[in-house]
Amino acid sequence: MPLVYDSETKTFTIHTDRSTYQMQVDRFGYLLHLYYGSRTEGTMDYLITYADRSGMCGSPHDVADRTYSLDVLPQEYPFQGTGDMRCPLFEVRDAEGAWGCDLRYVRHELREGKYGLPGLPAAYAGEGDDAKTLSITLGDPRLGLEVELLYGVLPHTDVITRAAVIRNVGQKAVTVTRAQTACLDFVHGDYDVITLNGRHAMERRPDRHPVGNGAFRVGSRRGMSSNQYNPAMILTERHTTETAGRCWSMNFVYSGGFEAQVERDQYEQTRMQMGLSDNQFSYPLQPGDKLVAPEVMLTYSNAGLGRLSQNLHRCIREHIVRGPWRDRPRPVLINSWEAAYFDFTGDSLLRLAEKAAELGLDMLVMDDGWFGNRIDDFRALGDWTVNEGKLGGSLHDLVERVNALGLKFGIWVEPEMVSEDSDLFRAHPDWVLALPGKEPVLGRDQLVLDLSRPEVRDNLYEQLCAVFDSANIEYVKWDYNRSIVDVYSHGTRNQGTVLYDYMLGLYDLLERLHERYPNMLFEGCSAGGGRFDAGMMYYTPQIWTSDNTDADNRMTIQYGTSLIYPASTMGAHVSACPNEINGRDVPLGARGLVAMAGGGFGYELDLLELPERACEIIRGQVSTYREIEPLVREGLLYRLTTPKDDVFAWEYATEDGSCAVVFAVVMKVEGYGEAEYVTPRGLTPGAAYREAVSGRIFMADALMDAGLPLPVSCAPYASRMYRFERID
Ligand code: GLA
Repeated sequence: MPLVYDSETKTFTIHTDRSTYQMQVDRFGYLLHLYYGSRTEGTMDYLITYADRSGMCGSPHDVADRTYSLDVLPQEYPFQGTGDMRCPLFEVRDAEGAWGCDLRYVRHELREGKYGLPGLPAAYAGEGDDAKTLSITLGDPRLGLEVELLYGVLPHTDVITRAAVIRNVGQKAVTVTRAQTACLDFVHGDYDVITLNGRHAMERRPDRHPVGNGAFRVGSRRGMSSNQYNPAMILTERHTTETAGRCWSMNFVYSGGFEAQVERDQYEQTRMQMGLSDNQFSYPLQPGDKLVAPEVMLTYSNAGLGRLSQNLHRCIREHIVRGPWRDRPRPVLINSWEAAYFDFTGDSLLRLAEKAAELGLDMLVMDDGWFGNRIDDFRALGDWTVNEGKLGGSLHDLVERVNALGLKFGIWVEPEMVSEDSDLFRAHPDWVLALPGKEPVLGRDQLVLDLSRPEVRDNLYEQLCAVFDSANIEYVKWDYNRSIVDVYSHGTRNQGTVLYDYMLGLYDLLERLHERYPNMLFEGCSAGGGRFDAGMMYYTPQIWTSDNTDADNRMTIQYGTSLIYPASTMGAHVSACPNEINGRDVPLGARGLVAMAGGGFGYELDLLELPERACEIIRGQVSTYREIEPLVREGLLYRLTTPKDDVFAWEYATEDGSCAVVFAVVMKVEGYGEAEYVTPRGLTPGAAYREAVSGRIFMADALMDAGLPLPVSCAPYASRMYRFERID
C-alpha cells in the first residue's frame, strides 16, 4: 500500500518500492515530519526529542509546554509566525499588512492517481503506475486561509512529488509574500550539499561541499531557471559516493525564478527546502482566489548518487516527458547555427541538407535568421514572417525540397522576445516588460514580451501557427536568450504577480501548441542550457544542453546534468574543431562519443567542408547511434568515473542487464605506456557477455570486479565504445 493513514497516531506514511516518507499531526495540530529513508514499517515519532529549550525557542500560546517549540521540531510546511525562526516555506500578510499565520491540520484525503496542476507542469501517471495522491489541508481561521499540501506517489520510480495550493477561504484579502513548495527537516546528521552551478556555455557543473551552520542558498532571480544555478539540490551523508550511502534530492518542475536552500540550525539539525523565489513576489489573494506553489520532485537513495539519478531519470522520462516523442527514437539532425550562423540562403541550406542526407542524418534544422529582416541579432525578433527573399522562395517550397532528399525539416524560434527594431514592437510598445519612465535593460539587444497578457500570447500563437502550418515542419527549437530584469506589466495592477504569471502564460502558450501539433518535436533552448528544468521538459522532450559544444567541457556539463536529468532530454551535437568557444581540438571520434551520450544527437558544423575521412567517420557514428539509441534513451545510466579522472567513462544498461554500452574517453596522458581500465556495472552476475565490436566473450563478475583495459594510448581524448550483450 503506497499510502497509509493511521488514525490512532494520526500518522501518514508514503511508501515507494524502496523508500518510506512519514509525517504526523501532533497533539496541537501541527504537521511534523518524521522520516524519509529506506523502506520500513512502524511509526518513527520516537526520533523527535522534547526538552526545555525555551531560552530562545518560543512555544505557541495554547501549548503551555516549554519542551515544545516549532523552532526545533521537524516540519512539513514551515511558515512564518509561530516561533520557527529558521527559513520558512510560507509567509503571508493580512489585510492590515501584518505578517504572521498559524497553520494547523484541518482535514486530509487519500486519492487514487496522481494529482495534476492545471496550468502548470507536473508529473503524470498512467493506469499501471499505482500512483496515489495524499492531500493534507492546513488552515488558519484568523486569516481565512487554507494551504492544501499535495503529495504525489509514483511508487515504482521511488519519487514523491509535492505541491501546495494556497486558498483564501475567508472574507478579507491577504497577500502571499513567500510560497515555497517542499521542505525536508533532518533532526540529526552531517551532510554535504550538491548543486549544479555555472554560466552561459558552462552550465551545471556539480559542486559539493559540507553543510555548515547557517544557510547556503542557490537560486535564480532572472525570471528563468537559469544557466547559473539549476533548480536542483542534492543532500548526501558525508561519506556518500556514486555507489554507496544515503542521499536525497529536490528538483523543481518549474522554469522561472527559484530558491533552494539548506540550513543547519542551532541544534545541528538540517533543513533543505525548495520553491518559488520571493524576488519581486507579492501575490494578493482576494476571497475565493488561490495560488499554486509549483511541483517539486523528491527522491531518496540508500545506494549512492547513481541510484538517486536513476530514480529521477525514470520519473522524468516516463512521467514528465509527454507525447509520442517520449518513446520514439529522436531524429539525428544537422543544425545550421554553427554551420552558417545568419549567413545562409535557401540554396546553401539545400546543399547542407544534401550532404546530411548522404551521411545518413534525419533532419535539417534551420536556426536563427530566417524571418523578418533578421540579418544579425540586433533586429526582427517578434516578426515571425518568412524572409522569402533570403530563402529564394517560400518556406513550403524549401521544406518540400528538403523532404525530397529524405530529410525532415525543423525550425528555430524565440517567441518570448522582441527586438526594438521590429514591426511588432513598433505596433505594441506596451507589450514588453519595461517600467514606465525607466530605460529598459537590454539583453542581446532584445526585450522580453509580457506573456502574462493573453493578447500577447494570442498574437504569438497566431504568428507561429501561420509559419508551422505553411510547411511540413516536424521540429521546433524554442529559444529564450535573456533574463527578465524590468518587471512591469501594463496588464495588471499587481506587479508582484508578474514573474509568476509570466510563467503561467508561457506554459499556456506551450500547451496550446502542444495540443495543436501533437507530433511536433519541440526542443527547448535558452542561450544553451538556461532553462534546463523538468518544467520545460513537460513541453519540450529535449533541451539544448549548452551552447558549449567542446567535447571536453561537454563531458563535465553532461556529467553534472546527468545527476538529475536523463540522457533523453539532452540535446548534444558534434561541432567543428578547433572549437569556436575555447579553441580546443578533440578528435572526431571522441566528439561523436560525447554527443552520443545525449538523446538529441546531431551535428552543428559545416558538413560541406569536411574531408572524406571525416565523412566516413560520421556515417559510422550515425549508424552506431541508431543501434544504441534505445539504450541511451531508456537505459539505466552508470557513471563509472568523473570527468576529473584520468578516464571518463559512462555506461547505459537495460534494467535487466541483458545489454550495455560503455563509453570511455582518456582525459589525461602522462608520459607514455600507462594502461587505463574501465569497470562496467549493472551486468548480470554469473552471466557471460559478448562484446560486439571485438567479438570477445567476458564474464560479468570479472568485468565488474577487475574491469578491462583500454588500448594503451599516448594521445588525450582517445575514445572507445564497448557493447556488451548477455549470452542467455
Ligand atoms: C542561442 C542558442 C543557439 C542558437 C542562437 C541563435 O544562443 O543557444 O543554439 O540557436 O541562439 O541566435
